[in-house]
Amino acid sequence: MGLWSTKSLDAIQAEASMEGQHTLKRVLTATNLVFLGIGAIIGAGIFVLTGTAAANNAGPAVVLSFVLAGLGCLFAGLCYAEFASMIPVAGSAYTYAYATLGELVAWIIGWDLILEYLFGASTVAVGWSGYFSALLHKLGIDLGTAWTTSPYKWIEATTSLEKVPGGMMNVPAFLLVLAMTCLLVVGIKESARFNNVIVFVKVAIVFMVIGFGFMFVNTANWHPFIPPAEGPGHYGWSGIVRAAGVVFFAYIGFDAVSTAAQEAKNPQRDMPIGMLGSLAFCTVLYILMSLVMTGLAPYKELAVPHPVDVALAKAPALAWLNYLVDIGAIAGLASVVLVMLMGQPRIFFTMARDGLLPPVFGKVHPRFQTPYVTTILTGTLAAIIAAFFPIDLLGELVSIGTLFAFVVVSAGVLALRYQKPDIPRPFKTPLVPLVPLLGMGICLYLMWGLPGATWERLAIWLVLGLVIYFAYGRTHSRITTGNPTPISGN
Ligand code: ALA
Repeated sequence: MGLWSTKSLDAIQAEASMEGQHTLKRVLTATNLVFLGIGAIIGAGIFVLTGTAAANNAGPAVVLSFVLAGLGCLFAGLCYAEFASMIPVAGSAYTYAYATLGELVAWIIGWDLILEYLFGASTVAVGWSGYFSALLHKLGIDLGTAWTTSPYKWIEATTSLEKVPGGMMNVPAFLLVLAMTCLLVVGIKESARFNNVIVFVKVAIVFMVIGFGFMFVNTANWHPFIPPAEGPGHYGWSGIVRAAGVVFFAYIGFDAVSTAAQEAKNPQRDMPIGMLGSLAFCTVLYILMSLVMTGLAPYKELAVPHPVDVALAKAPALAWLNYLVDIGAIAGLASVVLVMLMGQPRIFFTMARDGLLPPVFGKVHPRFQTPYVTTILTGTLAAIIAAFFPIDLLGELVSIGTLFAFVVVSAGVLALRYQKPDIPRPFKTPLVPLVPLLGMGICLYLMWGLPGATWERLAIWLVLGLVIYFAYGRTHSRITTGNPTPISGN
């Protein structure tokens, strides 16, 4: 048994179909899954990054950047859907890699997904805190800098940490993560219900911005649609690609639906619906929203933390929408944090059941039937990072980590078609090998557009993961030790 051993599909499917007190509870419907996807997708990306990407990189053609990034996600999403319907387990990309590319790649991808889910939750929690404090400020309540800001910020130019004057701790971000963690411990059904409500609020508000905003668009703002290039990544085609790398963040999260596979009532049918349905819905919304924003305001004015407010300010008749946008962003970012904090523990949980992490992480709460140990661990880590760490260091790491997982999942689909062409696939990725190859190609292209420093951080993170694997996982792996019995719970 070696680094390249794969886990048998039969064993994975048998574990996934186990029922009882020590397993996760199958309660989620297709609608819940679509809402979880939308919950994870619409957040900081659309409310913040659209403006930055339009102003600095693509101009009104940020619409095309959304199309490009959306296509990359669609191709990768089609590959995720094949795996998630065929191997409906909580481990998501980690388990798909284990079944196809071997234990070492599985570990690497499991470790890499921490960048997406755990660091993603912390990053978005800090964004949430910004919107929350700003809304309170508008209402005359000032929380002050000390308790809404982390003590340090990262200065990219000098690659060093700098003290934030007066910054002590980001309390709102900390409390949000803890609240979402408690909800997730209490139950997946309760979490999904709460998510449904906030998704409804945020989508209704995005619809209002689009609908009312279109009435006040000044089409002169769309000319030139693709501003002439002013240097690499600065307008022109290279700017569109660079912006696609930036707004890719806005799509992150639909894949988190796959970590709820063991809690879905009918995963074979509903996993593809949950992932692809939420992705398609949000892609349309993003294209319309970016058209409206660049139509309302000249794109150069959108490089601000609250670009939707700036766009709406151009139509004084829409002033009443301002408070609603803040509420939409607060709801939106909260549901992103919730679903990210749902995804991470389920991957740790599956890794523990495979022996790659200590057995305690594989425990299921006897009453709530949630992976409570890993949920509390993830929540505590994410809360501490959100409260004290310079989060600007992490933003692009979340994107590169996710893109890397998408590349591996696309490659996995291809590998399994050749390794096991005949096993039943409830959902089949169309046009294989074209779609997986395009998924890999676009995601690699977007990764390539990210800064060298982000690549260095990804490499450091993966090396750290390898050290842990060789120190623990390699010798405890259930495949290596030949122990076929999954952990039975408490
Ligand atoms: N897609 C999520 C967001 O934009 C991560 O906040």
